[in-house]
Amino acid sequence: MVTGGSGFIGANFIRYLLEEAGFEGRIINVDKLTYAGNPDNLADIEHEYPDRYIFSQTDICDKAALENIFERYDIDAVCHFAAESHVDRSIVGPDAFIRTNIQGTFNLLELARSRGDRLSLFHHVSTDEVYGSLGADGLFTETTPYDPSSPYSASKAASDHLVRAYHRTYGLPVTVSNCSNNYGPYQFPEKLIPLIILNARSGKSLPVYGQGLNIRDWLYVADHCAAVWEIMRRGKSGETYNIGGRCEKQNIDVVRMICRLVDELAPAIKPREGLICFVKDRPGHDLRYAIDCTKLEQELNWTPRETFETGLRRTIRWYMDNTAWVERVQSGEYRRWISAHYGTSTRG
Ligand code: NAD
Ligand code: TYD
Repeated sequence: MVTGGSGFIGANFIRYLLEEAGFEGRIINVDKLTYAGNPDNLADIEHEYPDRYIFSQTDICDKAALENIFERYDIDAVCHFAAESHVDRSIVGPDAFIRTNIQGTFNLLELARSRGDRLSLFHHVSTDEVYGSLGADGLFTETTPYDPSSPYSASKAASDHLVRAYHRTYGLPVTVSNCSNNYGPYQFPEKLIPLIILNARSGKSLPVYGQGLNIRDWLYVADHCAAVWEIMRRGKSGETYNIGGRCEKQNIDVVRMICRLVDELAPAIKPREGLICFVKDRPGHDLRYAIDCTKLEQELNWTPRETFETGLRRTIRWYMDNTAWVERVQSGEYRRWISAHYGTSTRG
């Protein structure tokens, strides 16, 4: 079972399992299809793998519907991506974050536990934001104390604690990964990189919070997917693995780099850098994230394939080439398609 498989990272993960990783089993994608869940992300996969890929429009807060899926499909492993994932939305409306990220994770853990020996692994996908903010120096390790700043990161921290508690108390076989900021194809354009690419492409202003000096540690999404799969295959039960790109960048430098690449790939009369505008800062804005991923590198031999330059080029090309996807996401067309195609109720 993959939860949240219609979102950005989950869709890339399912694609990676079926097309690259040599995975031979069946996948059921359990996704509520919120604004961030987009069936377009896996439309070709649904078509190509009718016997190995199953979709269920289900809310992880609906325990009865989940229970039905666990039984009906005899679930033996869970990779849990489903979450409300955007910090800015969590500041304006935290309720859904508490429900999905905490109550939803709790429901999955309870059902996973009820399967006893039939469940071999519960992998929980989390974020480095649970560790809070770094100053100018230092890196997050797996033992850095939790200190979340936003309702999003606090809800993810709560879910991480629950997952570890289920391992210690009930012996549930779990692994946890805490990853830095991802970018790549299929990311909903509310997050920094796709937002800036699409705004730059169409000549709109490029909002940079505060002075643009906050630092994030960027990782190309396929490298995250490969790390999650290695942890699921070879990680030790009960362990946590940090995943990161060793790629710290100030936001303003990321935005400038996107401007230069978009100028190169789609020349315009004026350089896109002129579109940058500094806007009011995010409340509680963490200054710096940076991951120490030595454990993952040494124990599981993982290294990212993409550099920031190669990954960003691929990403910009993808957003430029996939205009139909972009137009449907921006117009809200895909929301209308979901209700016509799947209806609004839970489908098991
Ligand atoms: P996303 O917002 O793109 O996708 C989330 C998916 O979860 C969507 O398909 C949505 O429909 C689904 N979902 C939301 N609520 C649900 C519910 N109640 N029941 C069932 N499905 C529901 O998120 P993403 O960026 O792909 O992130 C996936 C996971 O990775 C999250 O757990 C996030 O915390 C974690 N993560 C993300 C990043 C990042 O940079 N994006 C970095 C580290 C960790
Ligand atoms: P975001 O993509 O929202 O990820 P997160 O908050 O989970 O790190 O933001 C990445 C960084 O970019 C963060 O420091 C906030 C900043 N940012 C902007 O400056 N402008 C924007 O329009 C957005 C969405 C983010």
